[in-house]
Amino acid sequence: MRGIAPRFFQTTAFRLSLLYVALFGISMIAVLGSIYIATVNNMIRIADETVERELDDLLLEYKRGGTRQLQKTIESRLRGDQLGGWVYLLADSAYRPVLGNMPSWPAQATKTGRWLRFTLARRKDQYTMRALSVSLSNGQLLLVGMDIRPAEKFTDTMIKAALWGLALTLLLGIGGGYLMSRNMLRRIDVLNKGAERIMRGNLSLRMPLVGSGDEFDRLATTLNSMLNEIERLIASIRGVTTNLAHDMRSPLTRIKSRLEIALTGQGDADKLRGEISYAISESDQLLATFNALLSIAEAEGGSARANMKHVDVWEVAQDVTDLYQPIAEDRGLEMELVGGAGAVITGHRQLLLQALLNLVDNAIKYTKSGKIQIAVTRENNGVSLSVSDTGSGIPADQRAKVLEQFVRLDPARTTRGNGLGLSLVAAIARLHEAEMILNHSSLPAADTGLEVKIYFPKGTG
Ligand SMILES: Nc1ncnc2c1ncn2[C@@H]1O[C@H](COP(=O)(O)OP(=O)(O)OP(=O)(O)O)[C@@H](O)[C@H]1O
Ligand SMILES: [Mg+2]
Repeated sequence: MRGIAPRFFQTTAFRLSLLYVALFGISMIAVLGSIYIATVNNMIRIADETVERELDDLLLEYKRGGTRQLQKTIESRLRGDQLGGWVYLLADSAYRPVLGNMPSWPAQATKTGRWLRFTLARRKDQYTMRALSVSLSNGQLLLVGMDIRPAEKFTDTMIKAALWGLALTLLLGIGGGYLMSRNMLRRIDVLNKGAERIMRGNLSLRMPLVGSGDEFDRLATTLNSMLNEIERLIASIRGVTTNLAHDMRSPLTRIKSRLEIALTGQGDADKLRGEISYAISESDQLLATFNALLSIAEAEGGSARANMKHVDVWEVAQDVTDLYQPIAEDRGLEMELVGGAGAVITGHRQLLLQALLNLVDNAIKYTKSGKIQIAVTRENNGVSLSVSDTGSGIPADQRAKVLEQFVRLDPARTTRGNGLGLSLVAAIARLHEAEMILNHSSLPAADTGLEVKIYFPKGTG
């Protein structure tokens, strides 16, 4: 909890809620302010009209029956006004009261236009009066006014209610913002702590989920799948390193011990030459492993993608056939190339050549008799390149596994190899966004046999 309080001021949630509170407060002031102004104006207008009408009535009486009639009317009005909400005052030209319910002419009145405003102490109360006065033709003065305290009380209450409402809004807004940002900070802190623990080296830990399915849970889920992927990659790198060390150790040990024996022994020049050429051929094998690993790294890196051009897969297949036909024939295998020119894709020619070389190399290595077929066909909008043989084949449940680095199915190790050939092909296929499918051979002569097909979905022709 410590440290959360000052930090919540800096959270986006809190700043956003402050902004919303400010905007809401301003709009509330605008709305309530205009309602207030309209109401006050309206109430004053209604009061003014009432007073004006009353004065007009009295003047009419004066016109009809002169001062007597006016005084009678005023007297009857005074009798009727039990609550004292009205003031009537008839005064002589020197402002001395003649008749009415005011002790004297209001000396302290404030004047706006024709209107007078003054307070009046009456029945232990202070009345606020809004009044009109006129001079009569006989020189007397007539004043009529009305108590506007109820209207003023109403507007006072309105202002108070609005201020309370505003204060409550601000309080709720700021309080809500505080709670929201505190909650967010807590969730983020949980993620932060999780990330710190993972960074300290425990890669098997995962971000905790609350189970609400909200954005934090979704973020945690995404981070967890990222961690799964990282863990998988690290495990595979660790596997590759271990396998590499393992694969290097036997040939290096063999080279070392044979060279040591050659050094201490009495061997003649021919024998020494034999040991040296043995060392060279083993070193070649080691170099081949490194080259294969480097090619995989190249295919998986970004630079290979920059070197992509239009490549006719058919021409690549022809080059490989020309290279391997004599080797296949030497082993008594038939080799054929089917398809035609114009199977153009956007690709890396050198790596495509390497991939096909690896596939044909495997086909020759793992086929004792029969035939090897390289086929280039245009399929849908794409191009497919396949190598089929009549060899030992790969059981369906092993086909995914052989694509991993250093995986070899030949337990007796009757053939040489590092188990990197197919992983390189797979990396090259991935680089070309192509699909790599291992299947039972479809050659007519084959009852076992393997077909490896690479399907490039985006042909350019
Ligand atoms: N055409 C094939 N027929 C039968 N088995 C195959 C074929 N191609 C590959 N395999 C099996 O898959 C394994 C992996 O092949 P991959 O090409 O990756 O390695 P490798 O040929 O053993 O060694 P490298 O290619 O690195 O010299 C092989 O060891 C072999 O058991
Ligand atoms: Mg191979």
